[in-house]
Amino acid sequence: MKVTVVGAGNVGATCANCIAEKDIVNEVVLLDIKEGVAEGKSLDMWQTAPINLYDTRIKGVTNDYEATNNSEVVVITSGLPRKPGMSRDDLIATNAGIVKSVTENIIKHSPNAKIIIVSNPLDVMCYCAYLAAKIDSSRVFGMAGILDTARYRAFLAEALNVSPKDIQALLLGGHGDTMVPLPRYTTVGGIPVTELIDHDTLHAIIERTKVGGGELVKLMGTSAWYAPGAAAAQMVEAIVCNHRRVFPVCALLNGEYGMNNIYLGVPVILGKNGIEKIIEVKLDKDEQELLAQSAKAVKTVMNVLDDMKLFN
Ligand code: LAC
Repeated sequence: MKVTVVGAGNVGATCANCIAEKDIVNEVVLLDIKEGVAEGKSLDMWQTAPINLYDTRIKGVTNDYEATNNSEVVVITSGLPRKPGMSRDDLIATNAGIVKSVTENIIKHSPNAKIIIVSNPLDVMCYCAYLAAKIDSSRVFGMAGILDTARYRAFLAEALNVSPKDIQALLLGGHGDTMVPLPRYTTVGGIPVTELIDHDTLHAIIERTKVGGGELVKLMGTSAWYAPGAAAAQMVEAIVCNHRRVFPVCALLNGEYGMNNIYLGVPVILGKNGIEKIIEVKLDKDEQELLAQSAKAVKTVMNVLDDMKLFN
């Protein structure tokens, strides 16, 4: 079984490395447009196989889409990352064209692939890839919720001084500052988080989560890669192993949560066919309002994509 990762930058390379270390596929193809980068990083990673003990071959290529033929899953990380002071939405002008052409090339060579988008602005790049791929939306979706909940869970683990393994959480909405972490659906070893933490501390953690990506951009001068790469690799694992994991994933809504024709983060079952099912949880009035605000923010960026007229 073959998986392709497009983009050998920080996120793409980390993702390829995480997939290889899981030892769940025969081959990972890492593709980039810059001559030698994917080849070099792949060779370096492959040389960790005797140390980290896995068999997955990692093959780096420059723009050679033939090498990606018949991939089961393709992760698209192409495009520019954020610089300090930028919002994810500022990236649309450059990244939309890139994501469109990468998706077209990918689907030509792997017509049955499941496509995971990581490029930003995430929700709208998923929509862009969906329009470019012309396949069922159950096979085009985005990585954001696993990353955003991981940040939320990591902050909670620190505050509560417990293992991050025991923190389960759900988060809805766009991958932006309007994302909607849901304390009512957050548990610690099965105990509602609200039983264990005071309101103000929880509120501060939620606010920090919403700007969690921006916190890292400020520190490093570019956007994060360890957690984004690991999160995308976890989605690949759920698909190739048909685990039917329940994850927050950026999915096209067709009536779910009362919305249509918009990509937003929602809980799904992820298995061999991609999105096996979108799960609709009951939201109270405040949560519904926050989700509506998040959808509004995503719509604004979708309008920018429309104005670019890439698809007509
Ligand atoms: C982040 C980028 C990958 O949230 O969107 O770090």
